[in-house]
Amino acid sequence: MIIAIDGPSGAGKSTVAKAVAKKLGFSCLDTGAMYRAIAWQAVADGVPFDDDAALGQVARTHEIAFGHVEGDPVPKRVFIGGVEVTDAIRTAEIDRAVSPVSAAPSVREALVEQQRRIGRAGDYVVEGRDIGTVVFPEAPVKVFLTASDEERAHRRVRQNVDRGIGSIDYDEVLADLRRRDEIDSSRATSPLRPADDAVRLDSTGRYIEDVIDEICALADEAR
Ligand code: C5P
Repeated sequence: MIIAIDGPSGAGKSTVAKAVAKKLGFSCLDTGAMYRAIAWQAVADGVPFDDDAALGQVARTHEIAFGHVEGDPVPKRVFIGGVEVTDAIRTAEIDRAVSPVSAAPSVREALVEQQRRIGRAGDYVVEGRDIGTVVFPEAPVKVFLTASDEERAHRRVRQNVDRGIGSIDYDEVLADLRRRDEIDSSRATSPLRPADDAVRLDSTGRYIEDVIDEICALADEAR
């Protein structure tokens, strides 16, 4: 069974997806981390962000793998081509690179295929931008999670501090979120948008536990 959770950056998708997966005993797939890993590799290799063929080549020839921190069932470590990039994919540089890189059709083609292969191997909570619309349109549970721009920016700042990556400027984060939403929503291939049959949840001002419980209830209904 697939639970698809889509929405803009910082809406709480990762926190919610991991908690729902733990509660239901599902695995969890963070597709944003996959696009970030390809963006990291493209930056490392000096591939221009408008070169669809070269970006596609990067995506097809570098294996992305997830690893576990001991004692945690949800994978938190990310590798590309055998190199650990868990923290390196969360920098401001990769925040800027990831939207243009993920707009490349050949990158999307390569990653969507991998995501389908991974998801079909078991019960998964899959989070991203196009999971309910493109990757798993047949998913029995689809959620489109949003929050206000300001709340999303505050969360992203806190998340980086919690991850020990260091502090980032709130105004810069807010501007980056809006810029990424704009690119993600307006791109030609798989734009960010709710599936027609997605349940829309706004997490602004809500306890995250309530949102998690609501999604678990949707999963119970669908089983
Ligand atoms: O979820 P996260 O903020 O880590 O995603 C980073 C970027 O990856 C997004 O801004 C978007 O450009 C891209 N992405 C995507 N499709 C997905 C997941 C992420 O295009 N399914």
